[in-house]
Amino acid sequence: MKQELITLTDVAVHYQTKKQRVPAVETINLAIHEGEFVCLVGPSGCGKSTILKMIAGYLQPTTGLCQMHGQTIEGPNWNRGVVFQTPSLFPWLTVTKNISYGLRMRHVSKEQIEESVTQALQQVHLQEAEKRYPFELSGGMKQRVTLARALVNEPEILLLDEPFGALDALTRMSMQRLLRQLWAQKRQTFFMITHDIEEALSLATTIYVMSPSPGTIVNKMMVNYAQQAVDAQQEEITMDEQFFERKETILSLIQGKE
Ligand SMILES: Nc1ncnc2c1ncn2[C@@H]1O[C@H](COP(=O)(O)OP(=O)(O)OP(=O)(O)O)[C@@H](O)[C@H]1O
Ligand SMILES: [Mg+2]
Repeated sequence: MKQELITLTDVAVHYQTKKQRVPAVETINLAIHEGEFVCLVGPSGCGKSTILKMIAGYLQPTTGLCQMHGQTIEGPNWNRGVVFQTPSLFPWLTVTKNISYGLRMRHVSKEQIEESVTQALQQVHLQEAEKRYPFELSGGMKQRVTLARALVNEPEILLLDEPFGALDALTRMSMQRLLRQLWAQKRQTFFMITHDIEEALSLATTIYVMSPSPGTIVNKMMVNYAQQAVDAQQEEITMDEQFFERKETILSLIQGKE
């Protein structure tokens, strides 16, 4: 059995606004093992980003435990890389400088920075764009820079919140191939939120499905389409009949029909 990296035990989060207390998620039990690609799907507002922010260390559970290697997560850390839907790059810095920003803040040596940035650029296939500025990049390229900026820290887990939501279908597919490569070659651990069920099925090893009010996990599904593609050395996954059955099952769960 692979080691548990992230564990959420009986977690609830209530937001306190000026007027009221908003229960966002309830009774969340979830585990992410090393080398897993975990996807979280669910309707808008069910609390997916809340869970990701908790794992990132941006917020604490109201009740329950959110742990990494059995230790309570108390704040953000470089070993958990985060990528949001909208790329947030510094417009006045080149691609290389954007990627190395965190390392420079941490006073990593110049040689080490150069080596790490070169490697991160290779991983996202952006070597040729290293000297460009964000305004000279397409949306997909920007998102690859954001990914490289997280990867350069060699995080134990990458947390992605709808990272391809703003991209067109073709770019999205090429980004999915990229994530499958990173997962297969480096055994990078992923936790990704997506509203695209086919995307979840084609990337994940485990899918958690959430339903609204209260936002909670209603199903855990083990899948292996990505593994099959990797084993067969294929760039794309093969969608069989079961793929579409699973898609229907997840859709019904999200809509609260099952
Ligand atoms: N800072 C906040 N203060 C008060 N309520 C909040 C706050 N952040 C989120 N909420 C509420 O908590 C619930 C869950 O929000 P969250 O952003 O986690 O949902 P989500 O599943 O990520 O939605 P989407 O798919 O639209 O991104 C929502 O009802 C939202 O209005
Ligand atoms: Mg969200």
